[in-house]
Amino acid sequence: MSFDFHKYVASMPDFPEPGVTFRDITPLIGDGEAYAAATDAIVEYAKSRGGVDAIVGPESRGFIVGGPVAFKLGVGLIPARKAGKLPRKTVKQDYELEYGGTNTLEIHADAIKPGDRVLITDDLLATGGTIAATIKLVEQLGGIVVGTAFLIDLKDLKGREKIADYDVFSLMEY
Ligand code: PRP
Ligand code: ADE
Repeated sequence: MSFDFHKYVASMPDFPEPGVTFRDITPLIGDGEAYAAATDAIVEYAKSRGGVDAIVGPESRGFIVGGPVAFKLGVGLIPARKAGKLPRKTVKQDYELEYGGTNTLEIHADAIKPGDRVLITDDLLATGGTIAATIKLVEQLGGIVVGTAFLIDLKDLKGREKIADYDVFSLMEY
């Protein structure tokens, strides 16, 4: 079935602050058929990249997108978590937020082996800061980023330019 995924995104002007239009994917993941169709599309993308050994998803919406993709591919899900959440040795990367300020993501140092083929998933590509930081974490551990997959690409924020050396798949553009 071909899905009009846009129907399942709620656009909220001036959230979380004036001037930002928040693209809310909770209607999409709250609909079983739409969630499954989005998952299947990313699974097909992963296969088209020659297969993957692991999915990496940045906290928190990257887990929502990546979990079912990993399950369907029969590979593991590696969380890239916000600072201070992972208990064992980690690698860390700082990045800037769309709404101002900085944040830090971490991955367990033993989560990726050199040469592992990794697909990074998230709900949305905005400025690209989150995905660029996640790519750096994977590469610090010797992983190969074979692609990045999103439900939404906010084109005007030019995230693709920040990760121009990497392949990008998105289901929707705004
Ligand atoms: C949002 C979104 C992406 C990121 C995109 O996450 O889920 O991860 O921002 O923005 P960027 O391309 O400008 O980096 P957020 O940091 O709000 O965390 P959340 O998923 O926990 O809500
Ligand atoms: N994360 C960063 N920018 C966003 C936006 N405009 N909508 C939803 N999530 C976001």
